[in-house]
Amino acid sequence: MLVHTRRCSLCLALLLGHSLFLLDNRESTAQAGMPAVPLSDAEFAQLTEQTARLVYDALKKPDDLAQEKARSAAVLLAAVAQYSQDAANAPRRVPVRDTAFRLSALIKAGKFDDARKLAESLPGLSADEKAKTAAVPIIMKQIEMHEAMRHFGSAKEGGNGAEKRLYDLQTANQKTRTLPAREMKDDLMLLALRLAVTGELVKDHMDAKVKLKPAVWKQHAEEMRRYSLDLARAVEKKDGAAAYKALGNLNDNCNTCHAKFR
Ligand code: HEC
Repeated sequence: MLVHTRRCSLCLALLLGHSLFLLDNRESTAQAGMPAVPLSDAEFAQLTEQTARLVYDALKKPDDLAQEKARSAAVLLAAVAQYSQDAANAPRRVPVRDTAFRLSALIKAGKFDDARKLAESLPGLSADEKAKTAAVPIIMKQIEMHEAMRHFGSAKEGGNGAEKRLYDLQTANQKTRTLPAREMKDDLMLLALRLAVTGELVKDHMDAKVKLKPAVWKQHAEEMRRYSLDLARAVEKKDGAAAYKALGNLNDNCNTCHAKFR
């Protein structure tokens, strides 16, 4: 009888776990018409402006580091546009994606003056009702894995310092397990949105290590997308406790994937 009850509670737990898993999965996989990283027009405009400014400034003194920094920022903006695209916003997001690819090509070719002009035009591009909306491959075609990640590395290496910033933010608030109100700013939200896009972007990466465990790779990339979005939305709502939790999940996610694949 005891065994029976135990088994039954195990069954129940399994059943519950299973339906939770299904729910979770349904939420995480893009629903029909629902982009991987939904962004309001205002958020998209902010990310576009940030990138335009970064590229413009980096190319004032275009050494190798600045060139790579500008190029990876341009490609990341293309990814932001692609992975936030839906039927309604496509006429405005696809032109940003395609212009960002052209910008990346100009930077690669060393045409820095043309690139700066094109960067300046990014925030004011007009809509194109006939834009080709099909997704295009980005990772390994427009940007390599290490370049995509370096965007979040130290400033010395051409990054925005995000990796250390996220780690410090967690350790500084370990006692209260809540991010303070002064951290609940657009700046952190926009960083989290970039990370969410990067999670989606790296899903299709493939190399010798990933080939051995493709499902594990995809799972960690998906977690990166989801925890980053959790962080962005918690910051938006100024919910410090939820933001701390999402931040902890995200930092664990970076470390786990690095331990397995880096
Ligand atoms: C799906 C797996 C995965 C996840 C998740 C992940 N990374 Fe990475 N990351 C990698 C791999 C693989 C490399 C090594 C790339 C290479 O050198 O080719 C890397 C490298 C890096 C680098 C060094 C880039 C360079 O070459 O200078 C930084 C910085 C970085 N990751 C930051 C982060 C941060 C921050 C997070 C979490 C918010 C994160 N990563 C999450 C797989 C991942």
